[in-house]
Amino acid sequence: MTTKKEQMSVVIVGHVDHGKSTIIGRLLADTGTLPEGKLAQVKSQCEKNSKPFEYAFLLDALKDEQSQGITIDAARCFFKTTMRDYIIIDAPGHVEFLKNMVTGASRAEAALLVIDAHEGVQENSRRHGYLLSMLGIKQIAVLVNKMDMVSYSEEHFHSVREKYQEFLDQIKVKPLHYIPLSARNGDNIVSFSPNMPWYKGLSVLGLLDNFEKEKERDSKPFRMFVQDIYKFTEMGDDRRIIAGTVETGTVSEGDEVIFLPSGKRTTVRSIEGFNAMPRSSVAAGYATGLTLAGQVYVKPGELMCKNGDDAPKVSSSFRANIFWVGKNPMVKNRKYKLKIGTAKVALFLDSIINIIDASSLATEESKDHIDRHDVAECVFRTLKPVAFDAIGEIETTGRFVIVDDYEISGGGIILHSEEKESIIREHVQKRNFAWVRGSINPIDRVSRFNQHPKLIMITGRETDHIQNTAARLEEDLFASGRNVYYLGVANLAVGIDSDIRHDFEDREEHIRRLGELAHLFTDAGVILIATIRDLDDNECEMLDLLIKPYEMIVIAQESADLIAAHTVVTGSDAEIYEKIKRLLYEKEVLIDYCI
Ligand code: GTP
Ligand code: MG
Repeated sequence: MTTKKEQMSVVIVGHVDHGKSTIIGRLLADTGTLPEGKLAQVKSQCEKNSKPFEYAFLLDALKDEQSQGITIDAARCFFKTTMRDYIIIDAPGHVEFLKNMVTGASRAEAALLVIDAHEGVQENSRRHGYLLSMLGIKQIAVLVNKMDMVSYSEEHFHSVREKYQEFLDQIKVKPLHYIPLSARNGDNIVSFSPNMPWYKGLSVLGLLDNFEKEKERDSKPFRMFVQDIYKFTEMGDDRRIIAGTVETGTVSEGDEVIFLPSGKRTTVRSIEGFNAMPRSSVAAGYATGLTLAGQVYVKPGELMCKNGDDAPKVSSSFRANIFWVGKNPMVKNRKYKLKIGTAKVALFLDSIINIIDASSLATEESKDHIDRHDVAECVFRTLKPVAFDAIGEIETTGRFVIVDDYEISGGGIILHSEEKESIIREHVQKRNFAWVRGSINPIDRVSRFNQHPKLIMITGRETDHIQNTAARLEEDLFASGRNVYYLGVANLAVGIDSDIRHDFEDREEHIRRLGELAHLFTDAGVILIATIRDLDDNECEMLDLLIKPYEMIVIAQESADLIAAHTVVTGSDAEIYEKIKRLLYEKEVLIDYCI
């Protein structure tokens, strides 16, 4: 049996043109990672086009190659030493950097910060240093590049080092090493340079192998964001595979697991390997698929954890440090999208505690918005509760990005959860307070229509099925003289919701608007029947709040595991229908109704 070689992701950052790509190109060339003849080929191509050869060109030339274990894609490059396999993440800008730090596959464990010896410390040298510290990357080395341009001067190296360290001291960052090098000439990349005999430290390659592997990820509480749910399609097989990447901890067959924020529980039945041997347990860093013993219905974005482990926080408010890169400043009362792992929820800026310019470290008091390149400590609120950990507990589930207008515009870390009233509750209080009423008393409408206004929410897994039930119920109630209206959610999409996207991403906005509409209908004394697929507990809560002071009856058709706060009706269509009518009687919706 062969043991798998260790893998490590390292991000390389620094000011523009300070030599990141050249360093990577050199590492590939000087470690013998390049395919036979590649270097000569790229060099001769340059000669033919009479342009000077650059090591950075190797990266482009290798993009399509798949040989000898080097693969290069837009931002990542893979190579091996005898000790381990490396993924070097080239993050040329802030956005790439944030993206890489927060998206699972390429999250870095260590960082190389490149500074041009000749140009010295620049704005982004400082910003990137700040970002690294903010995102909790502890293993940092500073590469002072282009030493050939300053005559390999030891004094010069020390002056750059001192200047940069002065900045890093203020943000409490202690790099493990400073290395003087010339990427172009290959000095101190893989072998030591006769040009700098005064330098006694590590080469870049030595430095990489000297970084330590994050050991503790396996021993932390189990966390896995649900990425997707795959259904077995064979006849009568209703098993599902929950797919995701294990962030921390381990999970084994038979473990009792909890999905948050829904709070659903079940037991792991099996662990499926994708193109791999079946196993009974899986640890941090692995992409996996699990089948569950109980029939629970979960959605992508939920955080899976283990009963008995320290639980993550579930909250709709938290305090965080963020770095803002958005074109537009971040402001209050605007809806953003928060992405933590695979979870996506609507986010609002609640309050700003303080703002720092990440390059000058100047603090700004009394600003009411967050400008591009600001680092801010703030309190956020989400429309729906979300599951996370504070960065001090578990780093990978404490980092997030913020999307504004479909673009990544910020990223940060969660300091702790906050107790704040839900946005919806607050909104409803304000709305009801400001509501201007006519002179007709709701009670008068009740006696006029012989009914108590209600939202009857029919949910289930099959759209056709729930729509049929709803239409039939409307027909019947109407025939018996009731003031009733059936509103299909699909109708909203072409009407009042036509300005928003119709996928999973904007579902909470659809539901919010449905809630407001339902409030209008019920306030007008009407029985509103609405259908929506796969309603969950949080969504129920949101609707409940929005239609206050009126009430909702939720009917979950054939889906006992869908939601907790519901009445489940099962059986044939006729049976389902009879049960709903009985329910309306029991809940005194229809005042003069007899059965
Ligand atoms: P961006 O990706 O645009 O941010 O730049 P980068 O940091 O990847 O820099 P890149 O490697 O493309 O190098 C920028 C320029 O600096 C190129 O012209 C390199 O040849 C030059 N350069 C890189 N390393 C050295 C060095 O050690 N000495 C000298 N003299 N020039 C260097
Ligand atoms: Mg580059």
